[in-house]
Amino acid sequence: MTTTQVTPSKIMDTGLGFWASKTLLAAVELDLFTFLTNGPRKAAEIKMELGLHERALYDFLDTLTALGFLIKEGKKDAAKYSNTGEVDTFLVKGRPTYVGGMLQMANHRLYRYWGGLEKALKTGRPQNEARFGGTPLFDAIYANQAALEEFLTAMAGIQQCNFRAIAEKFDFTPYTSFCDMGGADGSLAIVIARKNPHLSCISFDLPAVEPIAAKNIREAGLARRIMTQDGDFFKDDFPHTDIIMMSNILHDWAEEEKITLMKKAWAALPEDGVFIAIENVIDNDRKENTFGLMMSLNMLIETNGGFEYTAEDFEKWAALAGFSRVELIPLTGPASAIVAYK
Ligand SMILES: C[S@@+](CC[C@H](N)C(=O)[O-])C[C@H]1O[C@@H](n2cnc3c(N)ncnc32)[C@H](O)[C@@H]1O
Repeated sequence: MTTTQVTPSKIMDTGLGFWASKTLLAAVELDLFTFLTNGPRKAAEIKMELGLHERALYDFLDTLTALGFLIKEGKKDAAKYSNTGEVDTFLVKGRPTYVGGMLQMANHRLYRYWGGLEKALKTGRPQNEARFGGTPLFDAIYANQAALEEFLTAMAGIQQCNFRAIAEKFDFTPYTSFCDMGGADGSLAIVIARKNPHLSCISFDLPAVEPIAAKNIREAGLARRIMTQDGDFFKDDFPHTDIIMMSNILHDWAEEEKITLMKKAWAALPEDGVFIAIENVIDNDRKENTFGLMMSLNMLIETNGGFEYTAEDFEKWAALAGFSRVELIPLTGPASAIVAYK
């Protein structure tokens, strides 16, 4: 007879998961990995460079080693620490693959705001900057230039892999024009335009964001092929292009608003046009996409009515908006593109 040993390990790992989370967030905040990209360093050098106290110096570095973010050769004073390959690719500032922007935003904002989860679960109300004044997410972030730039860098960093994946996996050749609604710093339009020289593109976002996108597009040498347009996608008409994309947009809004945006996209598209949403689409049984489900909780913390959704939810809204069929294209990790054909 086999007996299954039941242990509380998973419960404790998850319950105290913020220890690991905050250790990594602190390393990113202190920019440890950028310092280590030039080669292995001793703890004493790290202490000096990052301005750390000696008390927990080795605990901090050895915890990062045990968590799999640093490699350690040698012991104590003689030990030298270096980045793992993963960290060196994704957490060294200045690399195009940097995803630390999202982690810095998590450290500055989400870490605190998730402390209000029980309250959010009881009230259904966001727990971020909007909590006291009732200011919607984007107004609150955009009132502060540093927060705006941090938010845009965070979004672009985590989405790069998905932007490259959709450029690879979706066939853009039958279409001539493309608009990214809520295009933020222009990153998606830049990736799609580079891969598809035949396409003319628009990156559409709120007026505070447009100059940042325009600058990035100029710097990418694509100003002749990507236009920026400022506006409010609820108040203004959508540009008329063959493809309308919305990446991490629908999840910010309540069901009625999601349907409104999809109806506006349908109305702006030509007969054979397509609407593509990129999102952490939850599996239809709502059992597996843990990241998508937690992102939905994050939308509770961050927005008035936003939530993540399943392909079945999207299909229902697409039919209401008038689209004829829907296709799901897995991208990277928990993210997918969900395509609605007019
Ligand atoms: C969660 S971010 C997603 C950014 C980007 N598409 C991505 O995938 O990373 C939402 C974007 O929608 C924009 N946005 C929010 N409300 C908007 C509105 N009413 N009209 C136009 N853009 C809006 C924000 O400025 C922001 O860039």
